[in-house]
This record gives sequence, structure tokens and C-alpha cells, in this order.
Amino acid sequence: MNFSEKIIDWYLKNKRELPWRETKDPYAIWLSEIILQQTRVVQGLDYYCRFLEAFPTIFDLAKATEEEVLKLWQGLGYYSRARNMHAAAREIVTTYGGMFPDNYSAIRSLKGVGDYTAAAISSFAFGLPYPVMDGNVIRVIARYFGIVAYCDKAEGKSQIKKALNAVFDIKHPAEFNQAIMEFGALQCIPVNPSCSTCILKENCVAFEKAMVKELPVKSSKTIIKPRYFHYLIIHDGDEIIIKQRGAGDIWQGLYEFPLIETSSETTPDEVMKHPDWKYLKGKHSWNILKIQSGVRHILSHRILHVTFYEIAGKIYRLPFGAKKIKKDNLQDYAVPVLIEKYLKQN
Ligand code: ADE
Repeated sequence: MNFSEKIIDWYLKNKRELPWRETKDPYAIWLSEIILQQTRVVQGLDYYCRFLEAFPTIFDLAKATEEEVLKLWQGLGYYSRARNMHAAAREIVTTYGGMFPDNYSAIRSLKGVGDYTAAAISSFAFGLPYPVMDGNVIRVIARYFGIVAYCDKAEGKSQIKKALNAVFDIKHPAEFNQAIMEFGALQCIPVNPSCSTCILKENCVAFEKAMVKELPVKSSKTIIKPRYFHYLIIHDGDEIIIKQRGAGDIWQGLYEFPLIETSSETTPDEVMKHPDWKYLKGKHSWNILKIQSGVRHILSHRILHVTFYEIAGKIYRLPFGAKKIKKDNLQDYAVPVLIEKYLKQN
């Protein structure tokens, strides 16, 4: 058996039953691939089902408001995925009358759809011969062919692409793509893969040269920068102040409490002297009910050091984009996981 036959045979025996593998609906496949870009299968499953229940067709998604879409996405992170899908759904309705485009270049030109997602939709929904290259595939190929070039640089990527094309099964693109991704997810895993039971070990260069641990090679680790957030939860009777986040930063479109960001670790005493604090408080008197500091929240490129201030009092000046709402209605707004967690615990 060749590479493709072996890996498809392995897939048919070992695959997980997943709902997006039982459909040819490009809309459902698109949704699953967008969710799975940055989310694990176990976590993504629930969101996938709820999203399809709320918006069973492209028309339903196109008709929804951004608030509704973000609310359903709440907790998944990387919210631009949801905003882009929403925009693309509207584009499909206006440009293609709601018919999902059925060729690679039209799919690739949809908002938020990159090479990987376009290849996935093209192969899974339309049986078109485009190989997918995600992290799992890169690992399998880098190890099997012993590719030592940096896989996150142009040279390494091009070597991986060439090798992948050489083993790609043009007659069974959907099965091949599902199979190699599943193989990377379940068998050829990043740490401690069980090579002794592997169906590819006879021809795997990394296994033969004892380089499995070292491959694939990445040029650099992501640098994680700290940010310092101070949230003011201002209770004005049965009302509370929230603010929608703008463009150009994390959590675009989500709601949060008035925020003071400092460039370094800052004590509550200092924060209370901050110009933004004075701007919000003005001449009102505030009663500090509680301060919770030392909350940490990790994002892909950031670590947030967060302090929450629970304050009873009135706001003097409402910042741009902020509004006063009934506390009971807070659950109608999509908020970052950080805030959702805080609210659950308090
Ligand atoms: N990750 C990305 N796409 C996937 C798929 N179709 N099945 C399982 N995991 C995936």
C-alpha cells in the first residue's frame, strides 16, 4: 500500500464520528472548519451544533445581527472568525443568491477564508483535489519526509507543500484530507507519539533517524506580552455601565466594563489617581465595594493582568461607546470569557 492507501485505511478504522463528516453541505463544513481553526474538536462540537440550530442556512446567518452572532460565539475566542463569517454569509446571499460558491478561487476569496479553509471546503463539500495544510498535516509530513527546514518560513512551507503534493490522493481528496488531519490529531501527535504502533513507521524518516521529537522545526516561539487591565464595575442602583470594544484590538464588538489600561503593574491607589478614573468619577462620590486583583487571563499573544473594582456610585461622564443597562440584562450581551468567568464567580 502507498502512503495515501495506508492513511485512508487507518482513517476508516480509527476515525472519530463527527457531525461535519456526515454532511456535504458547504455551509456546515465551512462553519466546522472556521470553528476548528483555533478550537479543539471537543469544545467546538457544542458550538457547531448550537450555531447550526440557531442559523440552519446561510440565509439565517446573513439575516442575523452581529450581536446575535457574537453572543453564540461567546467563549470560543478569536471573534473576528465570527464577524468574517457573518460578512461572508451576507456576501454569498447578495453576490451568489445564497448558493455557496463551488470553486476554489471563489471560495478562497470569501472573507476570512484562507488557503487551508478553502482547500478543506473545496475537497469535503465538492470533492475538488486541493490538499489541506494545517498544523497536523505539517507535523505528519515533516516527520515522514524528515523535513528539517523551518516549517513556519517560506522555504520549509514550500518543502512541505511539495512533499504533500507528492503523496496527495487526487482521486480521493476528501478522504485523504480528513485522514491525514485525523492521523496528525490522534496518532502522529506533537508529544510522545506512539511510533511503535504506527502504520507509517517503515518509511518514516524521522522514526528511522530518531528525530521524531525534533520535528517539525519552528523558527521561533511566540513572544507573549503582558497587558494591565483595570475594570470598573460601576453599580448605579440596579443599573451598570458597559462599553462595546472598538476595532483594532482584541475582542472587537464584545462588551466589557469601563476599562483603564496601564503600561505596567499599577496599585489600586495609583489607579484611583489615574486621569481616566477621574474622568469617569468626576465630582461624584464612589464607594469601593470590593477590589479583586491578581486575575490572569492568557490569550494567544498576550497575558492580561486584571484587577476588578466593584464600585457603588454614579458615572460622571459616559465614555464613548458606553451605556447604562439594567444588571438583569447583562446576560444578553456578548462579553469576553475573562468577564464571563468573573461574573460567574461573583
Ligand atoms: N480540524 C480541522 N478540520 C477538522 C475536521 N474536519 N475534522 C476534525 N478535526 C479537524
